Amino acid sequence: MTELNTIRFHRLDQQNKTLVIASHQNASPELVYFGDALPKATELDSLYLSQQAGIPQAMMDQPAAMSLIPEAGRGWMQSPAVEASAADRPAWAMRWQLKQIEELADGVMLTLEDSTAQLVLMLDIGLLPSGVLRQQLTLTNVGEGDLSVERLACTLPVSPELTERVSFYGRWCQEFQQVREPWQSTWLQENRHGRNGHANFPAVMVGESGFSEQRGEVLGVHLAWSGNHRLKADYTIEGHRYIQAEALYLSGEIHLANGQSITTPELLASHSREGLNAMSHGFHREARERLKLDKPRPVHLNTWEAFYFDHDMTKLKELASAAAEVGVERYILDDGWFRGRHHDEAALGDWFVDEGKYPNGLSPLIDHVKNLGMEFGLWFEPEMVNPDSDLYRTHPDWALQLPQYEGYLGRNQLVLNLANPEAYAYLRERLFDLFESNSIDYVKWDMNRDYCQSGSDLAPQAHAQVLALYRLLAELNHAFPHMEIESCSSGGARVDFGILNFTKRFWASDCNDALERQSIQRGFSYFFPPEVMGSHIGPDQSHTTSRTHDVAFRAGTAMLGHLGIEWNLLDANPQQRATIANWINQYKRVRGHLHEGNNWRLPSADGRAQTQWALSQDGLTGVAVYSQLAMPKQGQTLPIHLPNLIAEQSYRVTVLEHSPLPGHLMKAKPAWWQRELILNGASLSQVGLQLPILDPESLILLEVTAVPLSENNE
Ligand code: GLA
Repeated sequence: MTELNTIRFHRLDQQNKTLVIASHQNASPELVYFGDALPKATELDSLYLSQQAGIPQAMMDQPAAMSLIPEAGRGWMQSPAVEASAADRPAWAMRWQLKQIEELADGVMLTLEDSTAQLVLMLDIGLLPSGVLRQQLTLTNVGEGDLSVERLACTLPVSPELTERVSFYGRWCQEFQQVREPWQSTWLQENRHGRNGHANFPAVMVGESGFSEQRGEVLGVHLAWSGNHRLKADYTIEGHRYIQAEALYLSGEIHLANGQSITTPELLASHSREGLNAMSHGFHREARERLKLDKPRPVHLNTWEAFYFDHDMTKLKELASAAAEVGVERYILDDGWFRGRHHDEAALGDWFVDEGKYPNGLSPLIDHVKNLGMEFGLWFEPEMVNPDSDLYRTHPDWALQLPQYEGYLGRNQLVLNLANPEAYAYLRERLFDLFESNSIDYVKWDMNRDYCQSGSDLAPQAHAQVLALYRLLAELNHAFPHMEIESCSSGGARVDFGILNFTKRFWASDCNDALERQSIQRGFSYFFPPEVMGSHIGPDQSHTTSRTHDVAFRAGTAMLGHLGIEWNLLDANPQQRATIANWINQYKRVRGHLHEGNNWRLPSADGRAQTQWALSQDGLTGVAVYSQLAMPKQGQTLPIHLPNLIAEQSYRVTVLEHSPLPGHLMKAKPAWWQRELILNGASLSQVGLQLPILDPESLILLEVTAVPLSENNE
């Protein structure tokens, strides 16, 4: 019999979403509801009662609740929230009792305890102003003896009607690929790469049968953590569905002495009844809250694919001048500038300017860049050390490796043990010195290998490594508040909200091939807004796929993120430079809408094209990039529909840029193409707009602007 008078309900409302939690005196708390806003006057006890199911035959007399903290000790026969053990008491079958409730501004903190296991567990759960649900657990050992913690997982119960699942996979140069499957079995993603890796983006999306970008109930769940993790989507024999997300602890990694605690990373979840685009809007709002950008995203030029390790001051300066001419605003000197770094086999760890390449330091280049009106950025890979480096020769014990075994290299390098205070202090000193003695506005913070042997003593230290990294980034942000840090990891192998707390941009992929980028960027966009996605115009022939694309397709694709150039402009002909300058101009004109408005993914019905649509928050200006990715399945282009415009408002449709329209697929262009088209929002969204027939791998950039009422009446 459900005793309602022993239950307390906690309700939160944000962004048309409602979250209701039930806390119990003698059991762990439950999620009563997370979804579209409920009326203010909803009776929460009746709501709770309405969900209490019957007890099936052939099951436990008192089946375990689908709680936010599933308890092995109360009959939960799947993975519980906590798995731990101690030598001096049973600490593996907890039954939590509520000890304290603290109402917070945007959530509630519930403190639970188990006096037998001698543990205290705090659940911090709430609804952020973005409408995103946030959850974290903290486990404290209050017993005398040590506690070994095997698992500590956030659990999010999910509606049993969400029966399809999209998860992510990928590889170097092809990150954020999606796979859609029926949710009929346990789904598990275990990441033991130390970083997230290219294949294990820590997120999953579930939805009702047939959900799409614009339709259906969906839930996206993300773990804000840059290291080993476990994500699980499972269901019980009774019919409960849930998602668990946790930092994965390696064997023997987490020991808590008396009074010590461990906290999970945040689980973040965004809900929508209108498909994946609205789910993404929640995550985009959340990312923007954390980013707090105070100026438009400057156009980048990155030297990597232009020169690799071949740093020649004259050429570097010439490239800077050429970049400034086409409108670049920030120049980033990539790998190859520090002592002994002439290839990728040596020098990581020796963070001193290379005297051979830069006899007068970096200042002559920095001054040149700044005199051209650009900001200056510099590449680092601080967490690494090459065995062939002065640092390693002096401190081989600072690398994460077991002395009993031979080291295991990745890109010829080892990981520096940041949990070692001396190694941390060395690195901190080197970075602070370089940032204090050079005018550096931007850091590309790279990380180019997985961990193995992630410890140098009895226990692994992969978890401590991530925490030390976060601490170092926080210290740098505090000391150099105007310097932006980008997170790069062989492209997009470390993209998550954990590191986003300290960084302002992700390098989404080392692949600058615009066709591959379209799918990489689409996958990236489910959880992150375009302004944090580094996206560059590469050379004519892609360095990673050998495909060739015209400048328009490359530039229009790069424009869908934070635009940059990664191409030796000195090789570009005047015509190409002029085209790039045009695109950069357009980007500067519309980046406000792209980066502050809402963004939609709109696939064509034949699956061969996609439109990226960005609409300003006031609904008055929109930008659409229509990309023809493959041959259309039919002769004509399918109309594009532009959602969320103001229904009665008239808009002018302008073509800003487009790929060449050679005519071999098309005798005549659409009737409106060479005229002015003015149409109301309802028509543009419900009826749509015909576009010219395009070659595969080409695109069109359109602007849609509200026509002022006076002009409309003329
Ligand atoms: C990684 C990055 C690249 C580049 C190189 C430099 O691969 O992803 O963008 O910075 O390192 O070594």
